[in-house]
Amino acid sequence: MIEGHFIVVEGIDGSGTTTQCAILAERLRARGLPAHTTREPSDGPVGVLIRQILTGRVVTPSQHGVRPPTWATMAALFAADRLDHLEAEINPNLTDGVTVICDRYDHSSVAYQTVSGGGGDDVSSWVLQLNSHARRPDLTLVLDVDPRVAASRRGMRSGGPELYEVSEMQVELAKFYAKIDELFPNDTIVHIDANLDVDGVAEAIWAEVMKLRGESA
Ligand code: TYD
Repeated sequence: MIEGHFIVVEGIDGSGTTTQCAILAERLRARGLPAHTTREPSDGPVGVLIRQILTGRVVTPSQHGVRPPTWATMAALFAADRLDHLEAEINPNLTDGVTVICDRYDHSSVAYQTVSGGGGDDVSSWVLQLNSHARRPDLTLVLDVDPRVAASRRGMRSGGPELYEVSEMQVELAKFYAKIDELFPNDTIVHIDANLDVDGVAEAIWAEVMKLRGESA
């Protein structure tokens, strides 16, 4: 059996990754191609713990009251979740010939944990090292969006802001994503202008996925 393609969609919070993953999966299925959508943090045990941290339901005790775990602890948790996600969900689907569309992957770890860890090259090298056993995607689509556009999209969601949903940090993350290719020289990374409307972004993504499949859009 021919393995499925592993496609990752990345970008800052509010860039539209979740919406675009769902549209891409529907379009593939409409062509009779099996597709599975998934996300990181995953729905596995470590992913569930991470989501509890992101929403402030799990905290770390400190001398000055409670706080979120440090960036290094978060990097280790995200890396553990990723390996579990690969074993339990991503690899079995790919082996079955199913295209896997993943909402965020280790590019998020390198971006978010480096920025929250102070932004140094030593931090990003360590995060890359932690993720060195993570299977490489066949295609990574980075949704580039103006941080102000993303902030207004986040404002329309229900619930309070999560751990990394701080405007200043999102501006740094947008800059980081713009040059993320340098940190993944062996990956196929394509940047998509995500300031467009939902349909425009979906079309641009579809064209890249058809190129990957060697088909015309
Ligand atoms: P997100 O994907 O936006 O999920 P939701 O739509 O449920 O809010 O939230 C995940 C957050 O976790 C997001 O702020 C990015 C962050 N993150 C990391 O910091 N490192 C990682 O490795 C991953 C996968 C996500």
